[in-house]
Amino acid sequence: MENNKIKILISSKSFGKTGDEGIGILKNAGIEPVVNTTDKKLNEDELLEMADGAVGIIAGTEKISGKVITGVDSLKVISRYGVGIDNVDLEAAYKKGVTVFNTPDAPTDAVAELTLSLILNLLRKISVSDSGIRKNSWKPMLGNLLSGKTVGILGLGKIGKKAVRLLEPFNVNFLAYELKPDESFTKKYNIKIVPIDTILAESDVISIHLPSTEETRHIINSDAFSKMKKTAILINTARGDLVEEKALYESLKDNKIAGAGLDVFENEPYSGKLKELDNTILTPHIGSSTVETRRTMDVESVNNLIKGLKEAGVL
Ligand code: 8YV
Repeated sequence: MENNKIKILISSKSFGKTGDEGIGILKNAGIEPVVNTTDKKLNEDELLEMADGAVGIIAGTEKISGKVITGVDSLKVISRYGVGIDNVDLEAAYKKGVTVFNTPDAPTDAVAELTLSLILNLLRKISVSDSGIRKNSWKPMLGNLLSGKTVGILGLGKIGKKAVRLLEPFNVNFLAYELKPDESFTKKYNIKIVPIDTILAESDVISIHLPSTEETRHIINSDAFSKMKKTAILINTARGDLVEEKALYESLKDNKIAGAGLDVFENEPYSGKLKELDNTILTPHIGSSTVETRRTMDVESVNNLIKGLKEAGVL
């Protein structure tokens, strides 16, 4: 690297997979990115080593701990490649004066569309039918309609709202748990804001769209599963630690609930026992993985980083 260039680390392993636009903007601004090409989440030591001398990090979902933030002396900006910022030690960043950005809008459509896909797939047993045929078993199974069902949405932020918009043509009844409901939205879509227990007891489909915080961790635990209908399905495209995975496995195995569609896990990459069950659909954290979304995330995360560096007087 030339000495006069400004160094940043792109630790996200997903950045730049749809083209060079993001890298181009960085280079035009006189920034030389060091890129994580390992296709793996970097750990603390790898982050410390690769970010040495960097003024910014474009981060994926790898843990950006206090040790990393304080350890990289030159660090001024963390630009999350995505919406969730639960992996960043915000307190450490605040104390050091490191600005943290995210891309709050870009993933919305992609995550909501995946949510709808998982719901329909589970209800119509698409994945399990597909793997049946591949094992030479022609076994048409009965599924369930989405139409007329009660859908409980946990979290009516951007993604929860988009999920509601996509689900509305199916003529479902909406329940939602949301601490700060947007009244004009809930009125328009006829959504009843209720306590979580009501959602658990009355919903046929429960979909999680909450951020991961100390308050929401394991919000769906063994107690929650015991309150759900035996016919209910659970969808999680938010964060793995919102669901107590061990309790989910037990509930699915004992048919205490009917199914789960999961894009996120307590430990990623996931390799646990939920793989053994027929009533699960598991995807590898692909919520925002569409070409269109990722292109937007590339550009937005780079622009956020540049903005932060300008504000910090580095550019
Ligand atoms: C990841 C996500 O950021 O937006 C989020 O919060 O979880 C995803 O979009 C993306 O996979 C890059 O790591």
